[in-house]
Amino acid sequence: MTHMPRLADLEDQSFDPFVVEKLSTGDCPDPHPKIHELMARGSVHKGSYRDLFTDVPDVQMKGLNHYMVLGYDALQRVLTDPETFTNRDAFIYNLGVSFGHTVTVMDPPEHTRYRRVFQKAFLPQVVATWGEKYVDPVVSDLMSKFIGRGKADLIEEFTHHYPFQVIYRQLGLGPEQAPIFHKLAIAQVLSSIGAPQGRESTAKLGAFFQELLDLRRANPGDDLVSHLALVEVDGERLPDDVLISFLRQLMNAGGDTTYRGTSVLLTGLLTHPDQFAAVASDRSLIPQAIEEALRWDGPVVMTWRYAARAVEIDGVEIPKGAIINTVLASANRDPSKYPDPERFDIFRDRSVRNLAFATGPHVCIGQHLARVEMTRALNALLDRLPNLRIDPDMPAPDIIGHTLRVPEHLYVRFDAA
Ligand code: HEM
Repeated sequence: MTHMPRLADLEDQSFDPFVVEKLSTGDCPDPHPKIHELMARGSVHKGSYRDLFTDVPDVQMKGLNHYMVLGYDALQRVLTDPETFTNRDAFIYNLGVSFGHTVTVMDPPEHTRYRRVFQKAFLPQVVATWGEKYVDPVVSDLMSKFIGRGKADLIEEFTHHYPFQVIYRQLGLGPEQAPIFHKLAIAQVLSSIGAPQGRESTAKLGAFFQELLDLRRANPGDDLVSHLALVEVDGERLPDDVLISFLRQLMNAGGDTTYRGTSVLLTGLLTHPDQFAAVASDRSLIPQAIEEALRWDGPVVMTWRYAARAVEIDGVEIPKGAIINTVLASANRDPSKYPDPERFDIFRDRSVRNLAFATGPHVCIGQHLARVEMTRALNALLDRLPNLRIDPDMPAPDIIGHTLRVPEHLYVRFDAA
């Protein structure tokens, strides 16, 4: 299983999708005050969440009839009723263009049928074995480049890379194609703002994955692609378009989110040194620290659903055909569920499950893997960077973005190895 197809780079090699993506997801420092203000007036509002924060239009969703759902209970209702609040018609404009016919763009019964298969590949007992096999070597390799220096930018040098590199290993890709992969993975979602590099990346990743599937079917290994290429649903192989679309989605759904989630986790802990010290001395607190980071400033601020019929939520009439902006970040700071919700507190009562991975039939497939990755990354930093702390001589971390959250830098110091 050594042969790899070649992934073609963008025609315009000077195009920088990371800069353009930042424009698209917004460099808004903190959407929470505005969300909070709206929530105080009601949990459902007419209008588009995106329009609250940016003038850069989402060309694919412009002109649609948007409603925002902000409250925890209202969101729970929307996300767990796939007959009324459907996915296909909400996502054909955006992720459907970028990724193709993937699970997020499906409704039951089609969704149920395919999701079962993909989900099996990401069950907790399966991903637990990936920690040692894929995550630890990647983490160790990245850390070795700065461990002797006594200082680092944990975003630029660590979190921005490790989840993508885990995916490359899972797919059986070599490191030589990594930079192009990362670039195309990010560029493919830029169709939403009309960048031609969006469709170009979608096509190039598609051609690459088609070749990879054909190769793995002819000569299977023990990697994820070989497994998915040969698995059967009701006696039939998964269709290539569904598989290729899922693999395209994996790059973003699994890479970009976990990078952001880990960055927020580290920022939350390092800017609250008492809580960081508690976790450092008692690693059994790591799971609750992860859940608190996901609740406090989860990487995916919102997602969409389509109203398949006219419906009323919390006194607001939503017409058939409306696009529902389901604001997960708002539910996660709903004061009726989380007292003093703005506070980062790993010790808070956790009886209400946060919605960072959403809920219902489309709940994140990769949530167990994301937790494994974040746990391994945090443990490695605690083990190998003694006296880890924010660098007082550099700018403090600032979590930005109105739809996807991340700090641009996290400058730290530690005792050099
Ligand atoms: C901290 C990290 C992550 C966060 C916050 C996150 C968040 C989410 C959210 C909110 C959804 C639901 C979207 C919706 O219902 O509209 C979702 C779905 C999904 N996630 Fe994640 N995710 C993360 C990591 C991952 C990883 C590591 C993978 C893959 C290995 C992954 C794969 C997926 C897939 C395939 C779906 C679509 C599921 C479906 O529609 O049935 N995610 N994720």
